[in-house]
Amino acid sequence: MSFTDTERRRAEELIARYPHGKSALLPLLHMAQDRDGYVTQDAMQDIAALLGLTPALVLGACSFYTMFKREPIGRLVVSVCTNVSCLVNGGPALVDSLRARYADDLDVHVEEVECIAACDLAPVMQVNYEFHGPVTSGAAVEVIEQYKSGALTARTISGSPAAASVSGAGTTVRRELAKGG
Ligand code: FES
Repeated sequence: MSFTDTERRRAEELIARYPHGKSALLPLLHMAQDRDGYVTQDAMQDIAALLGLTPALVLGACSFYTMFKREPIGRLVVSVCTNVSCLVNGGPALVDSLRARYADDLDVHVEEVECIAACDLAPVMQVNYEFHGPVTSGAAVEVIEQYKSGALTARTISGSPAAASVSGAGTTVRRELAKGG
């Protein structure tokens, strides 16, 4: 979907924050992703036109950063770390069990990620970039189901607060009691 006039004005405000307009490329990609749930071809073309870049360059940035999705993946991105601390604390088994559990769920996308700098929470996962750990597979499913039911409010799939816009995509750490399995 292409940008509306309102979104275009918002994009221009973002671009104006930077000495060089093309520095707004990543925030604009996040803005597009937050709107549609992924970065559409139309959005990439709009961003290229706004920044005076080629669509190929925008696609290059979009495909380089794994945070950007180029096809619909559902509302919840579950990122499970399998780097060293998480590896020795059950990260691989956690990602396998969640992949199996949500294989047919179009709302939930499970992905394996490198260290997300929360090693003290190992094994740790993020749901839309909100940290949860340490978690067993049972506790992880409980958390994900709470997001699905609305008992927990999910950030956007770019990690922005649910009702917020592009800026301020900070994260908080939520410790979960390891239970069940
Ligand atoms: S090794 Fe998993 S968060 Fe660092």
